[in-house]
Amino acid sequence: MQTRNIVILISGSGSNMAAIVDAAQRQQWQTYLNARVAAVISNRPSADGLALAQVQNIPTAIIDHVQYESRTTFEQALSAQIDQYQPSLVVLAGFMRVLTADFVHHYAGRLLNIHPSLLPAFTGLNTHQRAIEAGCKFTGATVHQVTKDLDNGAILDQVAVPILPQDTSETLAKRVLSQEHIMYPRAIVNWLQIHNTR
Ligand code: GRF
Repeated sequence: MQTRNIVILISGSGSNMAAIVDAAQRQQWQTYLNARVAAVISNRPSADGLALAQVQNIPTAIIDHVQYESRTTFEQALSAQIDQYQPSLVVLAGFMRVLTADFVHHYAGRLLNIHPSLLPAFTGLNTHQRAIEAGCKFTGATVHQVTKDLDNGAILDQVAVPILPQDTSETLAKRVLSQEHIMYPRAIVNWLQIHNTR
C-alpha cells in the first residue's frame, strides 16, 4: 500500500502541528503506520508554524483567504492544494476558518479538528474565559470529526484539565495546550490504526 499522507492545516503558532510532526518522527509512523505528514498548509502568510514545518523539511503552502473573493473560491484553491497529496487524513490544527458543507463533504470521514473545551460544552471562541466564568472545575480539549456544524462532529478523544482558583484564561490555555500536544498525536495514531485500509 502507498504511504498514507496526512495534510495539516494551520493558521497560527502551529504548536499542535509541531507536536504531531514530532510524534510522527519519534514513533516512526512511516514504518509502523505507513503514514507521514506530507504537507502543512496555512491560510495566513504570517503563521509561525510555517517555519516550524520548514525546519523539519515538510513542504508548506500558503492559501491566503484574503486573496479570494469568496469562501467558495478560497476553499477551491485550498482543496486543490490539499488534493495534490491525495491525503488519507486532513488535520485541522488551529485552523481558524469556518468551512462550508461542500468542503467538509469532500473530506467526509477523514477530517479531524481539535477544540479547546470539553465538547459539547463551549463550542466557538473564548472557551477558556467562558469556562472560568461559568465556574467549571474542569475544562479540557476535544479531538473530533469535522462535520458541517461547527465543533459538532463525533468525539474521538478528550482530555480534562482542572481549573485552578487563580487561573486566568492565559494560564489555563497554556495548561490545556500542553495536554493537546499529547492528545492530538494519540488520536491520530488511533485513527490510523482503525482506518488501516485507507
Ligand atoms: C489550540 O488551542 C487548538 O485547540 C485551537 O487553536 C489552538 C491552536 O494552537 N483550535 P496551535 O496553533 O496548535 O499552537
